[in-house]
Amino acid sequence: KKRVVSGVQPTGSIHLGNYLGAIKNWISLQDKYEALFFIVDLHAITLPYDPQELLKATRDTAAIYLACGVDPSKASVFVQSHVRAHVELMWLLSAATPIGRLNRMIQFKEKSRKAGDENVGVALLTYPVLMASDILLYQSDFVPVGEDQKQHLELTRDVAGSVNSLYGGRKWKKLGGRGGAIFKVPEPLIPPTGARVMSLTDGLSKMSKSAPSDQSRINLLDPKDVIANKIKRCKTDSFPGMEFDNPERPECNNLLSVYQLISEKTKEECQDMNWGTFKSLLADALIDHLHPIQDRYEAIISDPTYLDEVLEEGATKAAEIADATVSNVKQAMGLLRRR
Ligand code: TYM
Repeated sequence: KKRVVSGVQPTGSIHLGNYLGAIKNWISLQDKYEALFFIVDLHAITLPYDPQELLKATRDTAAIYLACGVDPSKASVFVQSHVRAHVELMWLLSAATPIGRLNRMIQFKEKSRKAGDENVGVALLTYPVLMASDILLYQSDFVPVGEDQKQHLELTRDVAGSVNSLYGGRKWKKLGGRGGAIFKVPEPLIPPTGARVMSLTDGLSKMSKSAPSDQSRINLLDPKDVIANKIKRCKTDSFPGMEFDNPERPECNNLLSVYQLISEKTKEECQDMNWGTFKSLLADALIDHLHPIQDRYEAIISDPTYLDEVLEEGATKAAEIADATVSNVKQAMGLLRRR
């Protein structure tokens, strides 16, 4: 069976972009493939953060996965830091990752500039190596993510290729290994619509957890009246009707895509509507779609024992696969096995 892995950072609250770009697509994948979905807490400490909030966000994120339909009887759900191999493999991979590649990563450049260059922690630079480790540990075939992760996936593929050619094949066989490729080279799965959900206040920038204004995003746990209000106040334009793919109408394009994804309706149905009619339709559709998720979230988060059990079982299964990979990589890299 082919394998898929993916994860979300427990920073801030999970929003519609995370849902439509990633989590929603995990649900159908878990039926077809062996799936591992993790909460990447180790990635969430790369910028200044509040430990108390991280703790809460980690549980919340796990509960949201389940509320959105991730099924622990099909997929392993676990917390990244519970499986030590993530960090262990990261060190091994970092020896095969050129520093120039990390310096050129868009997310690193943006985030370090914002935080004042020299002051950022080293982990912000090496973050993509940890992400490569998250993926390569499980010999993953597919990684369902939004478009902003594309560059990280390219790096992951390149690092896998380097390690395979530096240490794999005959060299590995001589050391007693099975030979061949050490890592499977994974493919990103980026959805045709929803891969880049835009801000409600500016159709040219991405919806993000870190945007200062909460008005710019729909959080999955926003109450009904907040959703209605955010949609009512979101940015529009003065063109007549609703249309797709007009570069002068990024907000219209974005909201139509969102509507299409959550209501399963076609975009053509909205063509002749005005903004007012469309907005109330969209607000209702969002509320209808998110309400059952919110109900399930409440039930899950109020039963900590259940959530702990799911995370424990997930970590146990994940560690088994991960440890086997690390032990292969160590062997291939010539590290002496402990007796
Ligand atoms: P993160 O936590 O920033 O985002 C989680 C997922 O949501 C997607 N996403 C979006 N999709 C559409 N529109 C948006 N506006 C939007 N904003 C975010 C992201 O593409 C992502 O799929 N580095 C990753 C987490 C990670 C990971 C991994 C993912 C760490 N290790 C291994 C996959 C496999 C991140 O920071 O995602």
